[in-house]
Amino acid sequence: MIPFEHYQESCRALEERLGGFRPEVGLILGSGLGELGELAEQPVSIPYGEIPHFPRSTAPGHKGRLVFGTLQGRPAAVMQGRFHPYEGYSFEQAAYPVRVLRLLGCQTLIVTNAAGCVNLDWNPGELMLICDHIKLVQDSPLRGENLERFGPRFPDAGQLYTPALRALARRQAQRLGIPLREGVYMYFPGPQYETPAEIRFARLAGADAVGMSTVPEVIAAGHCGMRVLGLTLLSNMAAGILPQPLSEQEVLQAARAAGAQFSALVLACLKEL
Ligand code: HPA
Repeated sequence: MIPFEHYQESCRALEERLGGFRPEVGLILGSGLGELGELAEQPVSIPYGEIPHFPRSTAPGHKGRLVFGTLQGRPAAVMQGRFHPYEGYSFEQAAYPVRVLRLLGCQTLIVTNAAGCVNLDWNPGELMLICDHIKLVQDSPLRGENLERFGPRFPDAGQLYTPALRALARRQAQRLGIPLREGVYMYFPGPQYETPAEIRFARLAGADAVGMSTVPEVIAAGHCGMRVLGLTLLSNMAAGILPQPLSEQEVLQAARAAGAQFSALVLACLKEL
């Protein structure tokens, strides 16, 4: 259990570095999608290692720092790199930064990730708006004593992916001419990619995409009353669909190829939040 005081101490240390700057929107950028942080105006970059109690990022393609600055006129906090349970973190640790961002003043969270495509009618390289998720593993960022100052013991999870923000993303995608799928993200703990049988199960369960991130952060964000927008890059067809093995190279390459489109959509959404 992480005590409330740790979140407060992280928040205070960041406030000291930020002067009067108060972010309203938090962005968590997934594998190979971190360049958006470079667009922040008057940026203040703070490596995770300089923030008390912050976990450390170990995943390749992740920079491991927070960039504060103005993006599309909005005061924002961009996480370049996130914490995954497969790195050895609990869900509570993986979601730690979200709660710190909430204490700093963020009311909205935009999360992005790369994921395997389970839906056989869709293609790698396409973008997907997350409308809901499935998590069948035991852990939750809310397991253990409830921190009432963040939210209730048994929070509703019926609208974790805020309907108004989903409508906004659909409108912006249409305006920009970016095709946008909409579907269910299923969390798998990894780090091994799923088996073909697990992917068939995911499809039967109603999943459109599978990935190893996002769900811890989104549960914590919903708990503390943040609005959430989740966007996925379908970087590869999930296991067992195509004859070749899955590789991280394929995922990062797809992320790079779709990066510009992905960033354009996120920026357009930010502007209209
Ligand atoms: N499975 C799990 N996580 C992923 C995948 C996948 O196929 N692609 C990118 N992240």
